[in-house]
Amino acid sequence: MFSENTIKQLVNYKTPFYYYDLQLLHNTLDEVVKQSQKYNYHVHYAFKANTNKKIIELICNKGLGADCVSGNEVKHAIENGFVSQKIVFAGVGKNDDEINYALSQNIFCFNCESIHELQIINELAIKQNKVASIALRINPNVDAHTHQYITTGLEENKFGINPYEFDTVINLIKQLSNIQLIGLHFHIGSQITDLVPFKNLCLKVNQINHYFLNKGFDIAVINVGGGIGINYKEPDKESIIDFSAYFKVFNDFIELRPHQELHFELGRSIVAQCGSLISKVLYIKNGINTNFAILDAGMTELIRPALYQAFHKIENLTAKLHHLPLNKKYDVVGPICESSDCFGKAVELPETKRGDLIAIRSAGAYGEVMSSRYNLRDETKSYYSE
Ligand SMILES: Cc1ncc(COP(=O)(O)O)c(C=O)c1O
Repeated sequence: MFSENTIKQLVNYKTPFYYYDLQLLHNTLDEVVKQSQKYNYHVHYAFKANTNKKIIELICNKGLGADCVSGNEVKHAIENGFVSQKIVFAGVGKNDDEINYALSQNIFCFNCESIHELQIINELAIKQNKVASIALRINPNVDAHTHQYITTGLEENKFGINPYEFDTVINLIKQLSNIQLIGLHFHIGSQITDLVPFKNLCLKVNQINHYFLNKGFDIAVINVGGGIGINYKEPDKESIIDFSAYFKVFNDFIELRPHQELHFELGRSIVAQCGSLISKVLYIKNGINTNFAILDAGMTELIRPALYQAFHKIENLTAKLHHLPLNKKYDVVGPICESSDCFGKAVELPETKRGDLIAIRSAGAYGEVMSSRYNLRDETKSYYSE
């Protein structure tokens, strides 16, 4: 991804910063659109992955909808051109202001996560004299086989409505005057690199879809969330995931009735590979067993390694310019006063020096958007390739 010219350009910017390859994002989006349109599937971009204005502008221009998890995300989507009729709003703890705002904007659908939330949305909709379209977020109890912090579809997770609550929910919905059940929503977790959990999800969706039909609800929208993973180890070998295989699993295994629409909420697979965190080496500390490369970026710019023990490929761009071989191991750490402020242990790099430019790859999703000002750090900046 980093040509000599790009590296020479990056040297001029003050580190640390995010660098986005907009051409890669453009190509990724074209592939998402092409593969999903084969089956007339609807894709909402999961805003939580990255809300950088240039990124969402491009995504909006390609016609995707938005999947939001806060009132401010809904607002950000609308202010940046997303049509409200393509916005879905999820989250276990939507507050009254957020619900009121989303109602006032006539969004496509609230993904409701509990019985109590259904009652509150109904009350607020009555006050606005509106009918809220809702999808029930269902906890399908499908194991995503991913990191425990990013699995969401098991009964022990806080998300969604459990199957044993269905009869109560159905009776309640029949009584609530200002909500209309239009959809069933599922999301089993994130960074799922095997397609089998998605096949299992389809089989569960079929059962539940049938159950609701038998109870008199001919649901229009099935939303299967996001979660398809990317290649963090070799970002250049697979800079765009196999969207064709991903959507095909759903086409093969989900049983939709002719009028039913299938919706997706993809985040990471769209934006992760186009972003890198660029940093400079401040100090080298050579030890007996461990050498440290201390960067000017830390967990304040990219918290995923500290939060989820996430792996990111780390490259010394300066050494790459000089074609130096990988010959030394470093613990690559940041400047923050926390031991967890570590991007990678025993990372194989070329001989690394103060001032070398370092790229932490595949950081376009859940990177910049999770950055903080902890330790009163400067605000995170970003630059773009056109
Ligand atoms: C409800 C919901 N939909 C979609 C996503 C996006 O997932 P991903 O970025 O793995 O595609 C998430 C992520 O956590 C989510 O919670």
